[in-house]
Amino acid sequence: HYVDLDKIELKDIPKISDPDGRGNLSVVERDFLPFTIKRVYYLYDVPSSSTRGGHAHKELQQFLIALSGSFDVVLDNGKSRRTITLNKPDKGLLIPNGVWRELEDFSSGAVCLSLVSEEYNEDDYIREYEEFMLFKSS
Ligand code: TYD
Repeated sequence: HYVDLDKIELKDIPKISDPDGRGNLSVVERDFLPFTIKRVYYLYDVPSSSTRGGHAHKELQQFLIALSGSFDVVLDNGKSRRTITLNKPDKGLLIPNGVWRELEDFSSGAVCLSLVSEEYNEDDYIREYEEFMLFKSS
């Protein structure tokens, strides 16, 4: 039950470029994600020295988009780590449940949009890395 980090890829979000140069529009519709979106939240005004995340979820799945600016997502499946940079509003990162994540190196003005499969529930969080390792090996 260790999630294969190589299978976690940036997904292209459909983009509609305006033929008259009025800019781009990207859209995430119901069938684009493998889950139904129950909640949307976003991180902003994150100091470049801050780390967000630092937890795993038992059930929650999540799709992250750098709406503006850039940041790094460090993924950890309990055996190995992988860092993915998000810096385009038309690419998103699908994070399955059971993956430890840390978000860091936020650029100035970065906005991280999260589309998630569950309502907020603190019981779904694993906030201690030790507990995550026990959870993965159980
Ligand atoms: P947390 O998920 O720990 O943030 P991050 O992983 O980005 O560092 O949430 C930070 C705080 O906000 C924590 O006290 C829980 C609260 N919170 C809510 O009340 N509702 C929500 O939907 C979210 C995502 C967080």
